[in-house]
Parts: sequence; C-alpha cells; structure tokens
Amino acid sequence: MKQVLIDAYGTPWEVARCAEVEDVGAPAADEVVFDVLVFPINPADMWFCKGSYRLKPPLPATPGAECVGRVTAVGAAVKHVKPGDLVINLQRENWTQKRRVKGDDAIPLPAGIDLRQAAMVRINPPTAQLMLSDFVDLKGGEWVIQNVANSAVGRLLIVLAHQRGLRTVNVVRRPELAAELTGLGADLVLVDGRDLAERVSQETGGAPIRLGVEAIGGAATGRLADCLATDGTLVHYGSMSGENPEVGRSNFIYRGVRLTGFMLGRFLSRRSPEKIRAIYADLAGQVMAGRLYAPVDTVYPIDKIKDALAHADRGGRNGKILVCPNGPI
Ligand SMILES: NC(=O)c1ccc[n+]([C@@H]2O[C@H](COP(=O)([O-])OP(=O)(O)OC[C@H]3O[C@@H](n4cnc5c(N)ncnc54)[C@H](OP(=O)(O)O)[C@@H]3O)[C@@H](O)[C@H]2O)c1
Repeated sequence: MKQVLIDAYGTPWEVARCAEVEDVGAPAADEVVFDVLVFPINPADMWFCKGSYRLKPPLPATPGAECVGRVTAVGAAVKHVKPGDLVINLQRENWTQKRRVKGDDAIPLPAGIDLRQAAMVRINPPTAQLMLSDFVDLKGGEWVIQNVANSAVGRLLIVLAHQRGLRTVNVVRRPELAAELTGLGADLVLVDGRDLAERVSQETGGAPIRLGVEAIGGAATGRLADCLATDGTLVHYGSMSGENPEVGRSNFIYRGVRLTGFMLGRFLSRRSPEKIRAIYADLAGQVMAGRLYAPVDTVYPIDKIKDALAHADRGGRNGKILVCPNGPI
C-alpha cells in the first residue's frame, strides 16, 4: 500500500515522498481497519514535516493529523462501528491508504456526509467551538475578535459565534475577503495593521471585547491584545508567522489582560469519551446540514504529495489542499 514518509525534517515537499509499504494486516479484537478516503494538509502537518511541531518522532515518519476513512474490518470486541461505516481517527499518521487503530480512536460519522468536509471535522470545528466556550462566559451580543479570520478555523468560528448571537471582529491580511466573510456572518472585517486597536474601537463603538483568539504570533498577537477590554482574555492557538507572541507589557500591568493558549487535545482530554463523541456527532450534524463548511482549493492524489505540500505552503489559497489516497471520491 502507499504511504507518505518523511526521511528527514526539512522543507515539506523536499522531505516527503510517497512510498510503498507493507499492508496494515487484520485487526486485533479491539481494533478497526479502515481505508483512508481523504486527508487535508493542515498548518500543523507542515510544522511536523519541518520538525518544528511539538511531536518529532524518529524517522522515517508519517504525518497526518486527520482524515476520513471507510471501515473495512473490525475486531470481535468492537461494537460501535462496522465495515462500511465512515470514521474519523483520533490518532495521527493518516497520510496513507489504510490505517489499523484501536476501536476507541475511530469515531463514527453519519453515512452520506460530504467526504471532503468529513476529512476536516476532527480538528478545526472543535477548535473553533471550544475556544468560544472554554475561556470566557460570553453573553449574546458580546464581541469576539480573531485574526487569520479567513482560515478554516476562523471561518468556522464566525459561523459558530453567529449561531450563539455573538458578534465578531475578523482580522485578515487581504481586503478582498471582506464580502465572503460577511456572507458567513462576520460583523466586521478589518485588515491587520499598526492602528488596529483604534479602528476596532471606532467600528465597535468602543464596545468591551472580552475574548480574542489569535494564530499568527509575533507583533500580531500584541495588536490583538491591544484591542481587548481590561481583564480580557487572549487565546494564542497557533503561530502562522513561526514567531513567539509579542505583547506590550502595559496590557498585563495596567489592564490585566490574560494571555493563554489552546491545544485541542488538551481541552478534549478534560472530557469523557461519551462527551467527545457527542461533540463530533453535533459538529458532523452541522456539516450535514450545510451550516459548517470549509472551502477546498485543490484535491491531489497521494502520488503527488510533493506538489500538494508545495501548494499548501503558498499563501492566498482559496481553501484547503486535500489528498485522496485511494483514488478520486
Ligand atoms: N491549537 C490547536 O489545537 C489548533 C487546532 C487547529 C488549528 N490550529 C492552528 O490554527 C491556525 C489556522 O489553521 P487552519 O487549518 O484554519 O489554517 P488554513 O485554513 O490553512 O489558513 C491559514 C491562514 O493563515 C494565514 N497566514 C498564513 N501565513 C501567515 C502569516 N505569515 N501571517 C499572517 N497570516 C498568515 C492565511 O492567510 P492568507 O489566506 O491570506 O494566506 C490563512 O488565513 C494554524 O496556526 C493552526 O496551526 C491550532
């Protein structure tokens, strides 16, 4: 079977290759085997290939934080999924044609769900949802501010916040995104820049903003902190610039702004397996209903993984880069 391997940490499209490897074999009693139908290339996968992600396993290694698959075999003790079911996988190493995992790691999805969207359910939708719920007890009508607002997480956050009656300030680096994000329910779309806090204050009528979420790092983190109310919370959940957050100290000393961080696994692990399955069932239902959607730019076959990775690294995409390891879906 085919599988993506990286033999060294470095430039993703130089170090990754599509290799022929041994089949995964039959499932043990508590295991599930599935064909990987679609996987996305996420920023965290790029960091993984570069060797700058928090996980850096011995090489050769297979990247891939998420995917959607169709179950082909289950062990005798596995009762919650059966052959033919669609599943997402809570474990990694998904850039491959087949996976064999513990039954508890295979989360069933409803039949008929759009497979491209299903491949992107595991990480970004719960990230947007839990960042809105787990830090500040927001009331309807309150404002939330975020950067990378046109990213997959950003778009989902706009929709989920709008559903809750929250208002969003959405910071982007390309002005042409405004109409599209407004169509999703964004209340304000602003281009990042030095005077961001003044513009936010002007556009929101000086409304206190108690929650900000940001995934750029460097000075961009500071610009979002400057927009928050006294005692506001800024959640750093990624670093598209590769830089550490830089926040002016007056935010902490004079205004008591709290800078904290989010990692999905850490926040899911506070919940029971039943609660986790319920979260995904709800999110999958929203995908089925067309309420949650992540745009797709291009779909590649697994043999073209190098082209797919180079494309994923280019800014200004119109959505995710996906790969179908077992042929077109
Ligand atoms: N902590 C967690 O648990 C968790 C979970 C999920 C995602 N994340 C993080 O969330 C972030 C977004 O992920 P995603 O999958 O939604 O991303 P995505 O859809 O691939 O979008 C990437 C976004 O980053 C912007 N961007 C790229 N390079 C940038 C730079 N140097 N400065 C400013 N903006 C830049 C892009 O803007 P353009 O469109 O203008 O190029 C785009 O808005 C990533 O940092 C990811 O690691 C974290």
